Amino acid sequence: MKILLTGGAGFIGSHTCVEIVEAGHDVVIADDLSNSKPAVLDRLKELTGKEIPFYHIDVADRQKVDEMFAKENFDAVIHFAGFKAVGESVAKPVMYYRNNIDTTLTLLETMAKYNVNNFVFSSSATVYGVPERVPLVEGMKTGCTNPYGWTKLMIEQILTDATVANKELSVVLLRYFNPIGAHESGRIGEDPTGIPNNLLPYITQVAIGKLPQLGVFGDDYPTHDGTGVRDYIHVVDLAKGHVKAIEYAAEHKGTEIFNLGTGTGYSVLDIVKAFEKANNIEIPYVIKPRRDGDIAECYADPVKAKEKLGWQAEKSLEEMCRDSWRWQFNNPKGYDE
Ligand code: UD1
Repeated sequence: MKILLTGGAGFIGSHTCVEIVEAGHDVVIADDLSNSKPAVLDRLKELTGKEIPFYHIDVADRQKVDEMFAKENFDAVIHFAGFKAVGESVAKPVMYYRNNIDTTLTLLETMAKYNVNNFVFSSSATVYGVPERVPLVEGMKTGCTNPYGWTKLMIEQILTDATVANKELSVVLLRYFNPIGAHESGRIGEDPTGIPNNLLPYITQVAIGKLPQLGVFGDDYPTHDGTGVRDYIHVVDLAKGHVKAIEYAAEHKGTEIFNLGTGTGYSVLDIVKAFEKANNIEIPYVIKPRRDGDIAECYADPVKAKEKLGWQAEKSLEEMCRDSWRWQFNNPKGYDE
């Protein structure tokens, strides 16, 4: 298949690019580089041995997207492009709704015009809102606590409605848990702009000496040690889930939702200890107040993905910690080296 990766220069998109090429498919990347660096494209060439065709465009730009579809003859689209910072989405909701929803609508319209019928969407476990219970199962109630999450849920609805109307369309909605780690080569990884919001990039920047200490957001949650519990998944496992998802889409019509997680929850302090042990580095931390909008526990029931996609996460927490550190250690300034 020839597969368009929107946002393919980003953290999850770049790792998925490598796995898709390894699975024998062709890829094209479209990315406006608003939150990624052009150097990732050289690294992808190095890792895949292929020049990955690249369109430096905004996927909401109908004309440019149309020109790309006219040229490329795609079989499928994996849509990663989107704004993803929760706090920023609260401050700039209209920008988030405009960007995340517009890109999706533009893709759907252009796909219909060019008769491209397979779509995989980067959704998030955030659509479960404040869960009634864990583990989270795909059929459970949804609801969000911030505009970023709402864009994901609204797009899930738009795509579901589109498959009801167009019986030829296949959509797979992937609800990611917490992707961490990096490709084991240490050549591609997560490169956040500014001070990281997410736990692992924060820890690796403390480890490299860029930040003095980690702030642990709350130690009074009803969890085994009081800190928040999440389902951390190696980004390469997550990327492999996309290969299965696009192959599934090619064989099934309609919409299907899958959790991509490991099924195991670890607390913030579990992660700190695992990182210290895997890499033999001390991570100084202080306990801080809870972060607004955070929940106590969030982890997946991954059974549906195993049964229907034939996919399950394989990499251990130790590998996730080692690979996150290798990436940061080899690229102290990310792709800016
Ligand atoms: C966050 C987003 C979520 C998004 C996901 C993936 C929020 C509230 N949620 O999820 O919508 O889908 O990233 O991008 O931002 N922690 C600390 N100190 C830190 C950073 C994090 O203690 O400096 C804790 C958090 O309180 C949480 C855990 O580490 O318990 C994981 O946090 P994070 O990596 O930001 O992911 P989520 O909050 O699960």
